Amino acid sequence: MISTLLSQPQPGPDGGPTHRIAYGADYNPDQWPREVWDEDVRLMLEAGVNIVSLAIFSWARIQPAEDRWDFGWLDEVMDLLHAHGIGVDLATATASPPPWLTTAHPEILPVTASGETLSPGARQHWRPTSPVFRTHALRLVTALATRYADHPALVAWHISNELGCHNVHDYSDDAARAFRDWLRARYETLDRLNEAWGTAFWSQRYSDWQQILPPRLAASHPNPTQQLDFKRFSSDALKEHLRAERDILRRLTPHVPVTTNFMVMPGIKGMNYADWADEIDFVSNDHYTHPGPQAQDELSFSANLTSGISGGRPWFLMEHSTSAVNWQPVNLPKETGELARDSLLHVAHGADAVCFFQWRQSAAGAEKYHSAMVPHAGADSDVFRTVAALGGTLRELAPVAGSVREPAQAAIVFDWESWWASEQDSHPTSRLNYHQEALDWYSALLDLGIRADVVTTATDLDRYRLVVAPVLHMIPATLAKRLTRYAENGGHLVTTYFSGIVDENDHVWLGGYPGALRDILGIRAQEFAPLPDGSSVPLDDGTTGTLWTDHLAVTDPATEVLARYAAGEQAGRPAVTRRATGTGSAGYVSTRLGRDGLTRLLPRLLAPAGVESELPKEARGRVEATVRTADGSRYLFLVNRTDEQVTVPGLAGEVLVGEAAAPGALVVAPRGVTVLRQPAV
Ligand code: GLA
Ligand code: GLA
Repeated sequence: MISTLLSQPQPGPDGGPTHRIAYGADYNPDQWPREVWDEDVRLMLEAGVNIVSLAIFSWARIQPAEDRWDFGWLDEVMDLLHAHGIGVDLATATASPPPWLTTAHPEILPVTASGETLSPGARQHWRPTSPVFRTHALRLVTALATRYADHPALVAWHISNELGCHNVHDYSDDAARAFRDWLRARYETLDRLNEAWGTAFWSQRYSDWQQILPPRLAASHPNPTQQLDFKRFSSDALKEHLRAERDILRRLTPHVPVTTNFMVMPGIKGMNYADWADEIDFVSNDHYTHPGPQAQDELSFSANLTSGISGGRPWFLMEHSTSAVNWQPVNLPKETGELARDSLLHVAHGADAVCFFQWRQSAAGAEKYHSAMVPHAGADSDVFRTVAALGGTLRELAPVAGSVREPAQAAIVFDWESWWASEQDSHPTSRLNYHQEALDWYSALLDLGIRADVVTTATDLDRYRLVVAPVLHMIPATLAKRLTRYAENGGHLVTTYFSGIVDENDHVWLGGYPGALRDILGIRAQEFAPLPDGSSVPLDDGTTGTLWTDHLAVTDPATEVLARYAAGEQAGRPAVTRRATGTGSAGYVSTRLGRDGLTRLLPRLLAPAGVESELPKEARGRVEATVRTADGSRYLFLVNRTDEQVTVPGLAGEVLVGEAAAPGALVVAPRGVTVLRQPAV
């Protein structure tokens, strides 16, 4: 789907490849005088740009007043881009309502949990459930789709922008009304809602639907199931908005694929993207790195999970940065080599597009210090030269476009419901970090040279020898059965502290933790024993636990203790266990071992599962390997995780990108990426 997008404006010459990696950016020509546009398209061609996302924040320009439209400038930009063979991923432009709309209808503005109304003046100041906003937004979508339905530059629709980035949790009266409707659909009767929410506690029993509110600022901890349902509802409310825009586009332009840009990133958890993916024609993601020791691994994790959400099919990197962003406390420029490496790491995990925010760095506005493809310095700059060089590299990678991910032997499960539930308030510790625990397992696997797919709970796990489900806190009965069956049928399941604790209503599985997985794990914990800040506990295998411990016992003769606590209150008790289940097993890690501890532990879990590194010893941990396959070819990406050159012996194939092989060995440059084409086996 994505790789053929670009064949529309510019078919491959003389039967040449119509598949290409898309390359481009958000393009905001309405911020610039007309003469700049000519330089823009000239530089785009120089850089190898073949697609841009247009008009994302142009509502106020396209519709300057309720009954005035100004498409002239957009017609001209569309024509200009088409004349230069550049495709347009056209935004529906609904991301940021214009001042005339918020002045006439302040009731579309979102309200915080403490009752403050958010003012216009930034962006995304709209309630996902406002009928007034919806009407105006859909009118704009209809106008755009009608006007550009047959424009030859149009290759895809870009719905809104980063839905929910700033407005996912709205506590307004509109939200209250829509929340009640959502709850009626879920529970049908008040009795069932009262049961699910456990309203016997703290005198919260509802006797009328009208009494129910979003979890607004309260005197103490709001009801946890109410909070959880509000998170589900809020994600669904934005999904409904997405569907409403999409339905218009599908009706008016059934030939044009539709996407919206997700934000699969650690700090963004409001939108359950695993649940959104089926609503659009192809998955897109935005990603920005956060400096730190796991920055590259986190990028890889995000791209890998995006691929998981996309079912292993190619996806679209809609935004990342050429260099610094402007919204971190300190905004570091990318170091030499990072721009290309980061881009290609996304491609390694299935991206068929490499796009940036944005094409030309703004001279004014809140993002003027955010990097772009054409920086303030202009085309005579290292950033632009690097951008143009990357355009050349992506041309070399054209054969990769359309290929799918070759499943790994191991998988890490990432689940939005457990992310939401495990980090709610009034828990044993407020320090638990769901995403970090998953990332630590991922880093540890990379450190050992093991390729792992990051997948959602909807994925068929049977194809994996080893499945790690870190902090899988919320396990409904059906998921418990699936995981149990997986381990009984030869799969090797590993889970951690605070997993399998509650059902879908956030009610504790009773009888000892972790209730949902107690039998398959062959263990029972009587009590949680989280650790205070700054404290740690040694295990007898030489690793160290932080954050959490359990008062744990083994309950089944088939359960082996892999490590015990060596000090403290739990001294002598099991810390890490593994129960043999016929040909499979079920393992449990009751504390936070961190990346280093997991790197030490993992070989003992990988060996029985028969999971081995596919890399020669010299390269393990130093390069990350991914595999994409298509049409009888296997594309092996080797991404350097170090700042030094890495030599990888014993790999044969045609070098598509990177340095040619030295005799008997490949060389992966510092911060570099090498791509090999091999015949599929
Ligand atoms: C998001 C938005 C863009 C821009 C970038 C800056 O991804 O979609 O409009 O604000 O952040 O990093
Ligand atoms: C107070 C309240 C109790 C309970 C405890 C929790 O004592 O009276 O209802 O909430 O705090 O520690």
